[in-house]
Amino acid sequence: MCGIVGYIGTQQAAPLLLEGLTRLEHRGYDSAGVAVLGASGSALKVAKKAGRVRDLAEDLPKRFAGKVGIGHTRWATHGPATDANAHPHTDTKGDVAVVHNGIIDNASALRKLLADDGVDLVSDTDTEVLAHLVARSDADTLEGRVADALAVIEGTYGVAVVHADFPDRIVVARNGSPLIIGVGDKEMHVASDLAALVRYTTTVAHLDDGEMATLTATGFTTYRQDLTATATLARTVDIDPSAYDASDAVHAAGGSFMHREIHEQPQSTERALRGRLDERFGTAHLGGLNMDPRETRAIRRVKILGCGSAYYVGQMGASLVEELARIPADAEAASEFRYRNPIIEPDTLYVAVSQSGETIDTLLAVQEIRRKGGRVIGLVNVVGSAIARECDGGIYLHAGPEVAVASTKALTNMFVGFALLALQLGRVRDLSIADGKRLIAGLNRLPGQIAEILEQEEELAAAAARLAEADSLFFIGRVRGFPVAREGAQKFKEISYRHAEAYQTSELKHGPLALIDEALPTVAVVPSDELTDRNVGALHEIAARRGPLVVVTHEDVDLGELDAVRIAVPRNERELDPILLTVPLQLLAYHAALHLGLDIDKPRNLAKSVTVE
Ligand code: F6R
Repeated sequence: MCGIVGYIGTQQAAPLLLEGLTRLEHRGYDSAGVAVLGASGSALKVAKKAGRVRDLAEDLPKRFAGKVGIGHTRWATHGPATDANAHPHTDTKGDVAVVHNGIIDNASALRKLLADDGVDLVSDTDTEVLAHLVARSDADTLEGRVADALAVIEGTYGVAVVHADFPDRIVVARNGSPLIIGVGDKEMHVASDLAALVRYTTTVAHLDDGEMATLTATGFTTYRQDLTATATLARTVDIDPSAYDASDAVHAAGGSFMHREIHEQPQSTERALRGRLDERFGTAHLGGLNMDPRETRAIRRVKILGCGSAYYVGQMGASLVEELARIPADAEAASEFRYRNPIIEPDTLYVAVSQSGETIDTLLAVQEIRRKGGRVIGLVNVVGSAIARECDGGIYLHAGPEVAVASTKALTNMFVGFALLALQLGRVRDLSIADGKRLIAGLNRLPGQIAEILEQEEELAAAAARLAEADSLFFIGRVRGFPVAREGAQKFKEISYRHAEAYQTSELKHGPLALIDEALPTVAVVPSDELTDRNVGALHEIAARRGPLVVVTHEDVDLGELDAVRIAVPRNERELDPILLTVPLQLLAYHAALHLGLDIDKPRNLAKSVTVE
């Protein structure tokens, strides 16, 4: 949510900042801006506007030279998306420029104090106060001025600051919002996401909360807010920069990242499985969990925490853990968990699940559990992200960079991660070796079966075009199928802006059936299992009320005379079927949004990582 970039070195900053912002634009796309500093004594130049990074690039003044600069792409929190509210924010004289991710909780009080003191505030944002506070500090150094400003701030931030009086440096600080320094050759970068750095360097330093840093063209130093030194070092991250370059190609071709990411799933699931299956003993090897078999056997409960789609996959994960390991498990929205003063039990394994590894609600839940002595493992895609670093151990998802706001391949890999976890937990308890091997065979079949489902795209596109015409839809499923329906509805509403509501099929008769008529289609998840007959019965009740139906099911399910569009997916082991039933729903959502001509990768009001509460 919001993206920050910064550059100091021997090249012109503006083109590099704009390129970095383009790579971060999925984090917030209401407005964008850059500020650069030229040679010593020259004025700070700022360009910013509401709209996309490409609009900013088109309007950038001709004379915008400078080898030091910062940039920002915004997702509005305080104040609408206007030119004035875009970052960077400056002080009244225009010497200081600040870009900021996060929320300053005491901004109203600080704005009032500044206004009472005669400061003319020109935006509605919380961030602007920071620029004025830095300008008003009388410390001798930029580091001291930024530290003074931060000392009166309450809230979360990743910030980068430049000052015309200190043109040889950028000062950055982190508290709850990620910042990563990239070390180049006679140049330094900073960004809120690795995606903006990997083109230039894979030698990076992650700042910790409460830490600040100064970047010059030749290096960086880190320190606490009381300016005492810290020892944060840069290290080379194991990341394939070409994965990000491939994304550039999609962009250049005008394609959609979501479509590409859906189609990457056969390969990305294979990556998640690679080296983690022990065929001989029918178990999984997850070294990153940092738990020995004795600790694993002592687990009495599993509690999964995630937000949005990660929460829904967490519900699928809870079923996997209960079915394979016979440990009571449930999933809860991480955004709610912390606020009900949860009881943290020593024999519960807490699992935080997150693509970005930055979602603040999930991160704060992890911190709360650890504060109370609980053990948390992470299922996280982004290596070295805040949640990954906060957890006691974990499973990286290896989905590769995910750019589209609507998550697809990362969610599929979350499911695979849960299956591996459940297998490992199960095999040190009472899951038989035969069942372990059955599950492994099923996991190995997943990539090929996902590829088979993707071949039905044309059919799914036709069904989606019809669904897109409705103002409102139901997605229904039961037991294992219910989280699938929830995820399907989430994906559909998120990018098509159609009202899509998930319901347990069994609950229809208790109220929602009243809404069914020819204008309200239902997408039904009907696996071949012990509930098939009951599910099919419910579909007949919908059809009898002329409700249009799209049924995502298995080949062997007999729908009788039902008037429905039927999408059949291959069968796997019953425990693994939910993820295969999810994949067609991704394509339904994608094609509905495409049919409606919407911006699929950047749906309105949303952003890729939600780093504010
Ligand atoms: C929906 C979607 C969101 C995320 C949620 C959590 O397609 O992407 O609902 O699942 O914001 O994000 P992460 O997984 O980054 O914690």
